[in-house]
Amino acid sequence: MRIGVHSFIVLLFLVTVGVQGFRTVRLGSGSMTSFSINEQAQAQAQATGESFSIPGIPAPFQSISEEIVFKHVTTDKARVEAYCLSDLHADSIRNQEWVRDHCVRPGWKDDDVYTVMIVPGDIGTEIESLGMVFSVLAANYDAVVYCVGNHECWRRGTKAGGKATEPEKRTATTNRMARNSVDKVLEVLQCARDKGVHVGPLRVTQSRSAYKGLTVMPLQSWYHCGWDKEPDMTDPFLLAVEDAVPFSRKWGDFVSCLWTDLVEHREFASTSTDSLKLPLAFASLNTPFLGDAAFMETIADDTVLSFSHFLPRQELCPEKRFLLEPNLAKVIGSDPLEQQVRELKPHLHMFGHTHIPIDLTLDGVRYLQWPLGYQRESDKQCGPVFAGGPLRVYDSDLRVDSEGGLPAESGVPTGMESETVTWTKYYRENARDPTNMTLAPWVQKRLQSYEGFVNSKKKDVAAKNKLSVDPLT
Ligand SMILES: [Fe+2]
Repeated sequence: MRIGVHSFIVLLFLVTVGVQGFRTVRLGSGSMTSFSINEQAQAQAQATGESFSIPGIPAPFQSISEEIVFKHVTTDKARVEAYCLSDLHADSIRNQEWVRDHCVRPGWKDDDVYTVMIVPGDIGTEIESLGMVFSVLAANYDAVVYCVGNHECWRRGTKAGGKATEPEKRTATTNRMARNSVDKVLEVLQCARDKGVHVGPLRVTQSRSAYKGLTVMPLQSWYHCGWDKEPDMTDPFLLAVEDAVPFSRKWGDFVSCLWTDLVEHREFASTSTDSLKLPLAFASLNTPFLGDAAFMETIADDTVLSFSHFLPRQELCPEKRFLLEPNLAKVIGSDPLEQQVRELKPHLHMFGHTHIPIDLTLDGVRYLQWPLGYQRESDKQCGPVFAGGPLRVYDSDLRVDSEGGLPAESGVPTGMESETVTWTKYYRENARDPTNMTLAPWVQKRLQSYEGFVNSKKKDVAAKNKLSVDPLT
């Protein structure tokens, strides 16, 4: 098959009105345990396809867990709609303006429609940017549900500790650095709460409808390199580039996050040590809901839309030979997340992070990414999102309940724009072949930009070899 190079360029890095009832429910908070995980046993379970045992919420995440609560809204509006948009990256003024222009739906507040906006993470790093986006979304949608992405976990951009500077001009040396990433996440979640944004499960029921409800379920997650089960690329020049400029030195999270008391930094900042400490710690934030029989019984007949920032399935990312940075596969997905999605069995799971729009159904679960992404991606793979705005992913008018109460039609529309994007079409028409080691032309072209680094590395090695030989001559 032949598709234009342009459309294949993928992300480098780096990738209440009408409410009658409203209640907040704090479900059983996960058991407080010391954070000790048998990594070897977990790795074995992973290899044999057995279930992960998600540990109790680790002590440093307890305060985060307290922010994540279940809310139930009953609206008297005739119809409920949900929209999705991830990776707003609104630290840039240009994306902030886009949000103000495209996340505004004049007239909705007067319509008989209750609107929910789902945001699967990466609104930004700077707390002012997050606050601005939360305010705009909360003013234009009846409910906003959000989960943190990796960029919110960066230490910089905290409100405390110094004078604000223009966001894009801040550097890693700014004095506005949170003590660690846990503190930063807590600050972001408190900002969301202050702006009326939900960070836990939200259930919406309609007083005028016999239908069961809609449950929007954020699943907190973090990636680990062992999630990548496909072979690494063997192209000699790619390996030389990796040797000269290791991916782990380029990946922003490894510099900008610090998970004090959760995982040693050298263990976290690695694409070869498969540490499950952080993925399991994030997954533990979901167990007060997924592990609560009463909660699961409550939402059993609902349409369930779940979402995470990271990927539950490797099939949702193009194969490494197509990626400008093949090592991206090491920092995008989570096995514990995949297990939780499998257990939840949502009608739709949304995610973000790779900035690659896609819409695929795998083992009976539909997965979708609809990212705004960075400016440089707006005329490439994120073009349909940039042009079209948030994607409508649920409409209660489309839902048809069967006699038993379970939805015969979930209310997730068909014929969505996400079904027409490049990678959706590619993987609906082509089988995945991770054994193919031939890099795509655009990947080869990008690698050439590293030629200078590779050559200087060769010179360094030659110089060192010469030094080691000189004393003998
Ligand atoms: Fe991300």
